[in-house]
Amino acid sequence: MKKDLGVKDYLFPMPVAMIATYGPDGKVDVMNMAWGTLCDSNMVLCNLTESHKTVKNMKAGSDFTISLATKPLMAASDYFGMASGNVVQDKFERSGLHAVPSKHVKAPVIEEYPLTLECRFHKDYRDDEGNYMVYGEIVNVLADETILNADGSFNFEAWKPILFSSLDATYYEIGPKAGKAFSVGKEYLTKKH
Ligand SMILES: Cc1cc2nc3c(=O)[nH]c(=O)nc-3n(C[C@H](O)[C@H](O)[C@H](O)COP(=O)(O)O)c2cc1C
Repeated sequence: MKKDLGVKDYLFPMPVAMIATYGPDGKVDVMNMAWGTLCDSNMVLCNLTESHKTVKNMKAGSDFTISLATKPLMAASDYFGMASGNVVQDKFERSGLHAVPSKHVKAPVIEEYPLTLECRFHKDYRDDEGNYMVYGEIVNVLADETILNADGSFNFEAWKPILFSSLDATYYEIGPKAGKAFSVGKEYLTKKH
């Protein structure tokens, strides 16, 4: 028996993505974004509340980086999603993390996160319902050597990425590999019934 749950935002999993920007004064701001995704192989789509300091920084000319949160950085990442740079003037400093300028875009790279997408602000869009979205062009990805295997593939055990569940407002670690995509379903391609 299935049960109707009504209208819920239950698309699982969602990313735990830290968007880092510069303010016009050069100050670093970081926010936590789960309502974001890829919309092309070199394009991210960020669903943002327009009043965030992050959005103000983008509108003032900042590009942005997106760093994917890890288990060791979970508390700092959650904090970035609760405090606003509009209110907490030393928001980033309080995290104790460190930032350096990106070599590719006008945005900070937070050094402690092992995987970072460097994104050029591409365009923004407000739909008829007032939802505000920002498109970012991925111009480079920075990966810490510690999360790469010798053959260049990702070592997920060393990386320890976390995911967000909107079903219970909880961060989850990832488990073992379940199967290879574009591969485990191949038998159905040739199956006759
Ligand atoms: C798990 C989590 C996910 C979030 N996802 C989003 C999101 O996708 N879009 C958004 O606008 N705010 C999201 N937020 C809220 C912002 O991160 C939060 O309001 C933050 O304080 C904004 O910071 P800023 O004003 O310094 O930019 C999320 C917060 C948490 C904890």
